[in-house]
Amino acid sequence: MSTLINVSQPDFGESEAAAIQAVLASHWVGMGPQTAAFEAALAERLGVRQVIATASCTAALHLTLANLEPDGRQEVIVPSLTFAATIQAIRLAGYDPVFAEVNPQTLTIDGDDVARLLNRRTRAILPVHFAGYPADMEQLRRIAGPDVDIVSDSAHAFGSTIGGVPVGRQGTATCFSFSANKNISCGEGGAVATQSGSLAARLKKSRFLGISHHTWERQRRAKPWHYTVAGPGFRYHMSDLNAAIGLAQLKRLDDFARIRRTIAAGYDARLAGLPWLLPVQRDLKQTIPHLYVMRITRGLRDELYASLRAAGIVCGVHYIPNHQQPAFKKYTRSLPVTEMLADEVLSLPLHTRLDAGQIEHIISRVSRFLRRARPARRRGQTSSKPTP
Ligand SMILES: Cc1ncc(COP(=O)(O)O)c(C=O)c1O
Repeated sequence: MSTLINVSQPDFGESEAAAIQAVLASHWVGMGPQTAAFEAALAERLGVRQVIATASCTAALHLTLANLEPDGRQEVIVPSLTFAATIQAIRLAGYDPVFAEVNPQTLTIDGDDVARLLNRRTRAILPVHFAGYPADMEQLRRIAGPDVDIVSDSAHAFGSTIGGVPVGRQGTATCFSFSANKNISCGEGGAVATQSGSLAARLKKSRFLGISHHTWERQRRAKPWHYTVAGPGFRYHMSDLNAAIGLAQLKRLDDFARIRRTIAAGYDARLAGLPWLLPVQRDLKQTIPHLYVMRITRGLRDELYASLRAAGIVCGVHYIPNHQQPAFKKYTRSLPVTEMLADEVLSLPLHTRLDAGQIEHIISRVSRFLRRARPARRRGQTSSKPTP
């Protein structure tokens, strides 16, 4: 194959181009009517009272954590197996990350480990809905009790549901990403969904420099130049340009979901039973698969990655554990499950522009490699048979 098959890719077409043209023609490209319309459309889709659109999910996470009522409790329990953005947001908000294990079947936060780590310094639990598969929110709610907030990193899970209820309605707040490779994309963007009117009011203010009414809102006032700076704030709002792209993408979400589910189901069926491959739990009815993650055991993951790369197939590794990153060394602890997974996880290409020939190429290359593989390393490696 001459062109590379990317692990992920946005799907923009004529509707997004027309939406951008319309915003450019309106001469208002900053936060304005498109941002408000996108927030309303997201709120309707999720069935939540409040949505605050942001520049990114990192901004959404930081904004939310920075707006929890401070009460001296300093710790946020979070899986180490996540993108660095999650942990940076915790640190930026002045909290200490307490790294938790993940469940090796689902790659979501391990509730039993959360229960062990919870203490009187715990301010919040921050689960990550990994690859679109939601963490066990009911269990976390029981563990958290009434005094510990649950703020979800739902960067991967826009459109997924839990027991038929959209991800976004559980816990204190849910933060989404609409960056280039997500289930829907604004180019760059994010949002916070919450049922709390008071939290939403704080988020709206501090998203835009603590200013009481943003520039668009002041346009029709007698003194549009006048504003009040009510408190601390960031510059985390979403522009009309990004929101217009998001509105066009939202109309295509159901099509995107169908394509993603079909590809993931095809991988599941065709790769089942291959040696050294452990599947990761997916519930394709309830969730939209954002990443197709599998586990390659016995030290073969890097070799398979290189073999696929040589065949023009670019995979992903989600993620390098954060407790092993120099920036978060201070918070490190022993996380054997996470460390084992970090050597095993491999994400196959999954996006809506993959064609049947590319999918066939990926499946045949993975199958061929694994059938011929002769693992060298044995010490400390999981076997793919039997499934742990
Ligand atoms: C798990 C997770 N959290 C947070 C983020 C940050 O999202 P954004 O790029 O919108 O800031 C990402 C981005 O890929 C992510 O994968």
